[in-house]
Amino acid sequence: MDSEELTELRAAIAGAPNNIPLQKLFGQALLRHQKYEEAEATFKNILRASPDDASVKLGLATAFCGLSKTSTGLVLVEEMMKAPKPPIRAWLVYAKLLLQSGNGSEARDAYEKAILLDPTIKDAFLESEINLLNQKKQEPQKIKLGGAENSETEEETTIDIEKPSTNFSQVGGMEKVKEEIRMKIIHPLAHPEIYKAYGKKIGGGILLYGPPGCGKTHLARATAGEVQSNFIPVGISDILDLYLGQSERNLHAIFEKARRLKPCVLFFDEADALGANRTDMRQSAGRHLINQFLSELDGIEYDNEGVLILAATNTPWHLDPAFRRPGRFDRIIFVPPPDEAARAAILEIHLANKPIQNIDYNQIARQTKDFSGADLQAVIDRAIEQKLTAAMQSGVPQPLTTADLLQAAKLQKPTTKEWFNTAKNYALFSNESGLYDDILSYLNLKK
Ligand SMILES: Nc1ncnc2c1ncn2[C@@H]1O[C@H](COP(=O)(O)OP(=O)(O)OP(=O)(O)O)[C@@H](O)[C@H]1O
Ligand SMILES: [Mg+2]
Repeated sequence: MDSEELTELRAAIAGAPNNIPLQKLFGQALLRHQKYEEAEATFKNILRASPDDASVKLGLATAFCGLSKTSTGLVLVEEMMKAPKPPIRAWLVYAKLLLQSGNGSEARDAYEKAILLDPTIKDAFLESEINLLNQKKQEPQKIKLGGAENSETEEETTIDIEKPSTNFSQVGGMEKVKEEIRMKIIHPLAHPEIYKAYGKKIGGGILLYGPPGCGKTHLARATAGEVQSNFIPVGISDILDLYLGQSERNLHAIFEKARRLKPCVLFFDEADALGANRTDMRQSAGRHLINQFLSELDGIEYDNEGVLILAATNTPWHLDPAFRRPGRFDRIIFVPPPDEAARAAILEIHLANKPIQNIDYNQIARQTKDFSGADLQAVIDRAIEQKLTAAMQSGVPQPLTTADLLQAAKLQKPTTKEWFNTAKNYALFSNESGLYDDILSYLNLKK
């Protein structure tokens, strides 16, 4: 039913059908009463008589917006924006249409432009809708991995896709490893034409191995940060599924997602579990998964350009030799415990935002032989706890000193030695084609 306002305007128009100002008032009233279809017809009608009237065009665009004729509305408003001085409200309608089209950041820009031009047209509802859309966009993307079809009880697994803010400057030492990654991953991505000119195929992955806590995962994440790409960390448990064939499908889904999100660093942690030696595997199910992994890696069936593949393991000797063929993990890099200079750098990185006073990084580095990066972090945590306890008692917080850290280091055992006990045997007795020469030379046993 019409409101009184509409009834009166209708009557007035019947008496003066060619009165354009009256028609415009009627169109505006229709918009206010959300009679968008009639408003559309009315404004179109007026435009026939005066095709350049910006306020009429704006009325029509508003009607389109109300009818969710989003793209038609956008075309019209964008056309209006080309005029030297479009009506300020056009920005507001533009923002609404952009919001409707799901374009959160452009909607925000248009809205901000509108209230900059005229602060009185603030629209709290529109503002919160725009914020909501933008927030949703910022929520981390996830890869959903299916449980078996038809199984409603199966919990859904998801993998978060990260956009790391760390980069190589946050990784202490490891210069040799960083250089390998630059040559094999970062430069090819930045200068594909040069690599192609030399007939060098871009692709394949890098496998990092070494004792726990020495920065493999940290470095992989920093690599993604270095090239400002997405980072997809995949653990074996994310992929494995009891249902026949589902693990392979999960793995394929992850690779496909990475190919869509390129550039992207795909990082396989605990790669040993995924690529366990095929002869070790009694069950053929495991073999299927390895074969799937290898064919995804080969990139023959699929285009892996822009997908950078890193993997890490503590037990490279459990890895199927097929992984090491050219085009797969053809760079296998030993990540040793940090040397003295690297330890000093790691301490400096991890103490950067802590309350400290005249820290002698080199001295602490000298006293922490065989400590991993994780061990050094533990030392810092321990020292901070001490300081906190003291501050609770005295009521006065004191900054960390060299002495505090040395004291904490005495209480912390290095965790890398144990790994070398095992690694030494493999390096000495199953060192095919010099694969573990780096371990031997680290232990001063050869080379
Ligand atoms: N070179 C480094 N520079 C800065 N921080 C480091 C470095 N190495 C290790 N760390 C710190 O130690 C922690 C453990 O490192 P990380 O998880 O990368 O070790 P990892 O080699 O992946 O160990 P694991 O084999 O157990 O998975 C990280 O959170 C990181 O903060
Ligand atoms: Mg790790």
